[in-house]
Order: sequence, then C-alpha cells, then structure tokens
Amino acid sequence: MMFDEDDSFITSAAGDRLISGIRDEDDEEIENTLRPKTMNEYVGQEKVKSNLAVFIHSAKKRGEALDHVLLYGPPGLGKTTLAHIIANEMNSQIKVTSGPAIEKAADLAAMLTNLYDGDVLFIDEIHRLSHAVEEILYPAMEDFVLDFVVGKGPSAKSIRLPLKRFTLIGATTRAGMLTAPLRDRFGVMCRLELYKPEDLAKIVTRSAKLLEIGIEKEAAVEISRRSRGTPRIANRLLKRVRDFSEYANESVITAKTAKKSLDLLEIDALGLDNVDREILLTIIKKHNGGPVGLETLAATIGEDASTIEDVYEPYLIQLGFIARTPRGRVCLSGAYKHLGYKVPPSKEQFLEQIEQTTDIESTDENK
Ligand SMILES: Nc1ncnc2c1ncn2[C@@H]1O[C@H](COP(=O)(O)OP(=O)(O)OP(=O)(O)O)[C@@H](O)[C@H]1O
Ligand SMILES: [Mg+2]
Repeated sequence: MMFDEDDSFITSAAGDRLISGIRDEDDEEIENTLRPKTMNEYVGQEKVKSNLAVFIHSAKKRGEALDHVLLYGPPGLGKTTLAHIIANEMNSQIKVTSGPAIEKAADLAAMLTNLYDGDVLFIDEIHRLSHAVEEILYPAMEDFVLDFVVGKGPSAKSIRLPLKRFTLIGATTRAGMLTAPLRDRFGVMCRLELYKPEDLAKIVTRSAKLLEIGIEKEAAVEISRRSRGTPRIANRLLKRVRDFSEYANESVITAKTAKKSLDLLEIDALGLDNVDREILLTIIKKHNGGPVGLETLAATIGEDASTIEDVYEPYLIQLGFIARTPRGRVCLSGAYKHLGYKVPPSKEQFLEQIEQTTDIESTDENK
C-alpha cells in the first residue's frame, strides 16, 4: 500500500477531538441515517449546488456522462454525501473506492473496465493515489481509454483498450496536494465552504427530526454556533447533547441544557477547544501576534503543519481570528477579544500615540 507523509493527518490528535471534522467510528452509525439523498435535502453550499444543477441538467439533456468532478474542502463538510447525490441525480450507478485502497495500477484498471456508460467512479482521498495508479487515470479521464504495456524488453507491446464514458468524482481535503495533470483533467471543481450557522441550525433540526429527538429552536442554534461550520460536528454534538437531555429527563432538548452540556464538554461559545486556543495563544504570546510561519507554529504546539492548515485554521480564518499573510499567520483583533486580551494598537494608532507623546523623556520607561 502506498502511504505518503500525509498519513500523520489521520493519526494526529485532531482526529480524537469531539469537535474535529474528521470522521470517527461513532459517527458511522448516525451518518448513514442522516446523510441527505437528494440535492433538495442537501442544506447550504448554494454556489456549488447551483453550478452542479446546471451541469447535471445539461449532461442529462445531451444524454452524456457528467464531466469529471473534483470536490474539495475540510473534513466533514459533505463531499462524500454530495458525490452520492450527484450519482443519484444523474440516475447513475456509483462505485466507491479511495486513493489509499488502490494499491496497484491493475486494481484501478480492473475497476475502470467494469464501468458502464454514465457510471460514477468515486475516489475518496484522491490526493493519496500512487504515481503508477495516477498514470492510468490520465488517458482514462481524458480519452476514455486504458493504456498499458504487456511483456518486457524488445517484445513489449503497448495496448490501448476503450473504456465506457464514465464520470470520475474525486474528493480531497487537500486540493493543493493534487498533481497538476490530475487537477487539469477535472472539468468541474467544487470547493465546499464552512457552513453558516443558520445552515447548520437547519441541519441540526433536520437531524433531530430524523432521529426523533425533540429540540427547541434555540437549542439547535446553540449547537450550530459551536459546530465550527461543519455538519459532521453539528450531528455529533446533537448526539452528545441528547445524552445530557435524556439524563435530565427532558422530553425535548432545551436551550439551557444544550448550553450547559456544551460547556461541560469544554466547547466554548464559538466552538473553540483547547487546541484552537493554544494556536491563538502561541501566536499572541510567543510570537507577538505574528506573523509566524506555519512550520514554526506547528513545531511550537506539537501538531502537524498540514493538520493545522486543513483542520484548525479554516474555522479560525472564517471567524476572522487569524489571517494568512505572505510572512506567516497573524492574530486579528477578534482573537484577542475572545481570549480576553487587550487588542494591541495597529501601526497607525501606534504612530499617532507616539506623536501625542511630546515629552518622551518623562515617560515611565525612560525613568
Ligand atoms: N449539506 C448537508 N446537509 C445536511 N447534512 C449534511 C450536509 N453535508 C454533510 N452533512 C452531514 O454530515 C455528515 C458528513 O458528511 P460527509 O461524510 O459527506 O463529509 P466529507 O466531506 O465526505 O468528510 P471527509 O472529508 O471526512 O470524507 C454526513 O453524514 C451528513 O449527515
Ligand atoms: Mg468523505
């Protein structure tokens, strides 16, 4: 099996957090029940949905397979869900595999030759395909042919086999790790964004209904506010809060119980946990608010740079707590306020202050 340096991503501590977007075993049981099956049930991601609706509509009208689609974005935002919905809307069969599961070029070749016209091949974690496997994919995606060599040495012959017109849907949390030739072969690229709290509240309400849990509107809002823009986390927190609510003998989850149980789980009002806080505090206290390079930051807190980038940072950026600059990460005023620190003056304010201090000799520092 091929592994790349990205492996640590799966085994990192990020995967054990209650508010990690990464899927864990506990999620499996409810995810299958809660996974929307149609575009209408799929909440939010309006831009992606409307683009896809157009492409699906015209492909169907022409009676052709849909262009290859790349879905990318942080874990738990609905890439796998969307891949199934696309196949469903196209009335296609879907075959599911993943980058690390395809060990040899021959494994992929066998899968490709088993596809029928219009079928969807879904490759999850597509950034983890080995080079040899990827090479098979290029002509398959572009010309719907399989190129391979039989025999060795002077008697070797290259053979070309036609394939059916299939649609490849690739999913990745790391679009940046895809090679350019692979990326270029996708006709449709969809970047999933973190969800707005109102969309998450709809998801929580929908999930509660499916799980036959009564919940107050304000309780759904409370959960969605602390779910880091991620449906998987929202569903997980709903499950935890339900436990507290049942323990308290409530017939519906009240806002008060939701708040109290999330506090007990040490998820703060914005869904930050201690790793997020450590990232922010490291930038503020050890690096004077930044800029600090990603690698340095990762080394200081003992996390993988890629985990910080893919798992923690997107939400902190969405909150406007940190920004990426060419020289590294900086903390913005919202982060200082949230953590109870005095916001440092901006450069302009700083210069203004100096101008106002006419008698510099008499300032405390100079005594
Ligand atoms: N738009 C949505 N509307 C409602 N529920 C959603 C939506 N997106 C995701 N979910 C819920 O979140 C769960 C996780 O989604 P999914 O498994 O598709 O994420 P993913 O992006 O494939 O994650 P990973 O990167 O770990 O593979 C699903 O089981 C589903 O219940
Ligand atoms: Mg997935």
